[in-house]
Amino acid sequence: MRTEFIVSDEVFYITTAIYYVNDVPHIGNASEAIAADVVARYERARGRKVIFGTGTDENAIKVAEVAASSGISPQQYVDSMVPVWSDTWRAMHIQCDDWVRTTEPRHRRVVEAAFSKMLENGDIYKDLYKGWYCVSDETFFRESEVVDGLCPNPECRKAVRWVEEENYFFRLSAYQDRLLEYIEANPGFLAPEFRKNEVVSFIKAGLRDACITRKAYGWGIPVPGDPDQVIYVWFDALLNYLTIAGYLSDERKFAETWPADVQLVGKDIFVRFHSTLWPAMLMSLGVELPRLIHGHGFWTVEGGKMGKSLGNAIAPVKVSEDLAAMSGADFDVAVDAIRYFLLREVSFGLDGDFSTSGLIGRFNSDLANDLGNLLNRTLPLLHRHRDGVVPTPSPDDHDSRAVSVMIPATAAEVARRLDQLQFSDALAAIWGLVGRANKYMEEQAPWRLANEESSAKLDTVLYTVLETVRSIAIMIRPFMPTVSEVIWKQLGIEKPLADQTWADASTWGGLKPGTKTGAPEPIFPRIDTKRKPIEPAPTPAPKEEKKVEQISFDEFKRLDLRIGKIVTADRVPGADKLLQLTVDMGTETRPVVAGIAQWYAAEDLVGREIVVVANLAPAVIRGVESRGMLLAADENGTAILIQPDKEVPPGSAVR
Ligand code: MSP
Repeated sequence: MRTEFIVSDEVFYITTAIYYVNDVPHIGNASEAIAADVVARYERARGRKVIFGTGTDENAIKVAEVAASSGISPQQYVDSMVPVWSDTWRAMHIQCDDWVRTTEPRHRRVVEAAFSKMLENGDIYKDLYKGWYCVSDETFFRESEVVDGLCPNPECRKAVRWVEEENYFFRLSAYQDRLLEYIEANPGFLAPEFRKNEVVSFIKAGLRDACITRKAYGWGIPVPGDPDQVIYVWFDALLNYLTIAGYLSDERKFAETWPADVQLVGKDIFVRFHSTLWPAMLMSLGVELPRLIHGHGFWTVEGGKMGKSLGNAIAPVKVSEDLAAMSGADFDVAVDAIRYFLLREVSFGLDGDFSTSGLIGRFNSDLANDLGNLLNRTLPLLHRHRDGVVPTPSPDDHDSRAVSVMIPATAAEVARRLDQLQFSDALAAIWGLVGRANKYMEEQAPWRLANEESSAKLDTVLYTVLETVRSIAIMIRPFMPTVSEVIWKQLGIEKPLADQTWADASTWGGLKPGTKTGAPEPIFPRIDTKRKPIEPAPTPAPKEEKKVEQISFDEFKRLDLRIGKIVTADRVPGADKLLQLTVDMGTETRPVVAGIAQWYAAEDLVGREIVVVANLAPAVIRGVESRGMLLAADENGTAILIQPDKEVPPGSAVR
């Protein structure tokens, strides 16, 4: 375990992935940044110098395409999108120290220098690229990887494009053995273990040299000395981690900051990019590898994949506003509750599901009942019987000591869990202490002791609980910075919370007798679950109207449109807009979920013929499987089903 308090020149450097700005942030992206923020805040509380770096990945083809479809220049487009991300992060209490934009000159210089260095050392060469490219994932794929003309990444599955260009390549294959040796010799380099195993299998399957440029398309960093080519967005983006650390611009900063201590990324970009291409690039540059790269899981929503196109992406600020409106809590408290939920609900590294009922459950039980109540029932007693002034406890009270001994043990356990990025377990440890203090309250029943106004026992019980809350406030601060401040204010402690170190959390007696506490106010008002729950917040619509994109006949041919006959139709429980259909497709009957319940009664649909997109990737919508989508005209927001002119056999193709 790391020591409690560290004073050194070495910077604790933590990074997240940098964000594609062709889209707006959702809770999946936010959960990664919140995790990094918690670690950064915790390390600062332990006295470390911290650099928490994040930023925006702006030189992507998809960014140029969205800008073009909006009729503005890519630069105007990215300039308008960066504040959308940075403002969201600020609202979510994510406090980063640097925000790199890959269009900045400081980053461009690093990318150009790195490219030139690798060209000089022979790791970059020119050749013909023939293969597929997925614009959505900004990834090159070989023929054998592409499935039915679609991106093989299960999170993407969009159509890939054929590319045949004279490009530059990075000699990734030359690093295959060195990468495997490094991973073997440094067991802590990649986590979690099961994802590390995926990396090893991926590398062992054989690494091909990586295409690292594209024919210039008017956006991106040009290849030094060859302006007909631009540098591939991933080669460019990965280097952001060096830019922030001061590589080639600030020798001293770089020496203090690099290697990065923790790099957090999602599972979709862990294997191919962060655990393979990135370390190989660093090896080629002769730069030390990061200490830890961690690949976390993905968030789904109400059991289904989350995506803008699916219309269910949860916007972090909107869901915080909804939670505040539902509960009556302050917005900043609701933000902290979302932070708590995202890190408590799943074991970091695994996939998690965001559901309104799950969120309300955690809010009511962990926050309102457990933590909120601990303070809510103690402070009013203190005000009623001791004028709100912290009393002096009896020394050597056996029952009080049973609680106080838990505090250093809990602080150590939380530290141990945070060192291993086990956020949920760290919170569970803190809540173990919350639970113990609540149990102590019930055992001691201070409301009964209150009859004997001078009771030393009452003094001890009130002190013990409030002193435990003081320690809890310090421990939850990395997770819930506003809530901890509110608690601190109610405790009335003069010394600012910001000056408290992690060691202060584990030392008994920080709350001084005689302290005048603040007014008791419930922080987490319970949510009345009988009221209508919030619906997942839709992602805000893009600002500009999109131009209609043209597709080729070949692209159209990839759609498998067929006639289906509805055999059964039922409402999806708990979803106002959804119907669950079974559709006869000629050769099989398949489930299709359709968002038409507002306009069609289930019983009117049975026996009708409809047009189905038969080769749409299966999805789970509100827990119900859907294999296909029906077509309907959109008349000012009302769905009108498309039906064949006369009855045709189910399964007939529509061309
Ligand atoms: N621009 C690249 C990263 C370049 S890093 C040198 C990128 N950007 S992203 O905006 O698409 O994703 C940012 C981060 O959010 C990634 O780590 C990604 O894995 C993560 N997530 C995207 N969707 C997610 C969920 N549904 N759930 C959790 N994290 C998710 O990839």
